[in-house]
Amino acid sequence: ARVHIKGRDGIELDIDALPGTALMDALRDANTGVEGTCGGMMSCGTCHVYVQADWLVRLPAKSQDEADMLEAIGEIVPVKPTSRLSCQIAMTEELSGLHLEIGPPT
Ligand code: FES
Repeated sequence: ARVHIKGRDGIELDIDALPGTALMDALRDANTGVEGTCGGMMSCGTCHVYVQADWLVRLPAKSQDEADMLEAIGEIVPVKPTSRLSCQIAMTEELSGLHLEIGPPT
């Protein structure tokens, strides 16, 4: 699935994310600055992204653990209503065209 991203440097590009994998994996492998240090365990917050508002409703809802982690990183970086942990977004073909911005370093 094609994902359109805006990097921390403001440069926009499209990357491919394999359906069935976590979005975080594709962002990390594309050297976007997303580290995914905890491997998707919702304990590092390094996979934070801002999802374009009109795509937000098409994503699976946030779990309480994800919301808690976002609240925690909110003490060091701006967390918005569009903030998600990319490790919690399982890619599907339906998400092709997804637009997002990489969050600031945590
Ligand atoms: Fe650590 Fe997502 S990879 S919280």
